[in-house]
Amino acid sequence: MVQSLLDFQNLNQDHILKIIHQSLNIKNKVNQKYLDKPIRGTGALLFFEPSTRTRFSFQTACVRAGVVPLVLDSAGGSSLEKGESIEDTILNLEAMRPLFFVVRCPDYVQLEEITSQINVPLINAGWGKKSHPTQALLDVATLFEKWHELRGKNILFVGDVGHSRVFSSHKQLSKIMGYRLGYCAPAGFHEESLEKTEAIQVFDGMNEALEWADAVITLRVQRERHADKQTISGLTLDEYRKDYGLNSERAKILKPQALILHPGPINYGVEIEKEIVKDSRSVILQLVENGVFIREVVIQNVISGELK
Ligand code: CP
Repeated sequence: MVQSLLDFQNLNQDHILKIIHQSLNIKNKVNQKYLDKPIRGTGALLFFEPSTRTRFSFQTACVRAGVVPLVLDSAGGSSLEKGESIEDTILNLEAMRPLFFVVRCPDYVQLEEITSQINVPLINAGWGKKSHPTQALLDVATLFEKWHELRGKNILFVGDVGHSRVFSSHKQLSKIMGYRLGYCAPAGFHEESLEKTEAIQVFDGMNEALEWADAVITLRVQRERHADKQTISGLTLDEYRKDYGLNSERAKILKPQALILHPGPINYGVEIEKEIVKDSRSVILQLVENGVFIREVVIQNVISGELK
């Protein structure tokens, strides 16, 4: 059976560490020529929801892996506009024999069901609120690059955890890799599905949360996923910024060696101020850089069948 990457259920700590080490190794060889690699085939990159980082990252990773990326973009021009379903789109494109699929799609798409009908691997590139495994992998690879260890570290999420596929993927990955999760968010952003057994610290105020954190991941307020578009969980933009926004004053509370992450895209002046990106502890653009290496390794692994 082909091995897809929908989430982390089939992976253990050795798999994850191997992906991280392989990614950081190829990062050190980034100046070597890529384009003289023989072309191995095509990869079908299907983005049924908008994306900049993940889409370009997978496209770049394909080129580096010797794969021609063929991209279907939700913006228009496909037979989705004529009512073709996402499932039918994937089944038809499989007949053109890509080496793998990369798919970003809404929650309602039954990716498990689709993977059971196709004979090539499928890599999840952001699945509604459910999961975004390559984002969580690139986060931990970037932290690992700095710390050389993840076990016992405190990773704080600030903001919209209830709508965050990045937080969902970290819930799985933290159990495998042994880091601790915490979050600080207004009540309406809390996670409804949080099980009492899950050892996730919930903080009422930012000061206490920031003191606890070895790394802070600020999340975008996903206004498109909220019923009320005017306020943020009952707060105005100003109130949200005042209570939860990360600015240079608040960043002083963080440990001197703490790291600052944001998966992007950023709402400047809401969850984070522009000055934070320039903070020496910010690794926001390193995440984007490392994402390509992670995705190249994931592609290599699904093609070779090593992701088992
Ligand atoms: N982090 C992330 O998934 O960004 P995009 O939505 O731009 O791909």
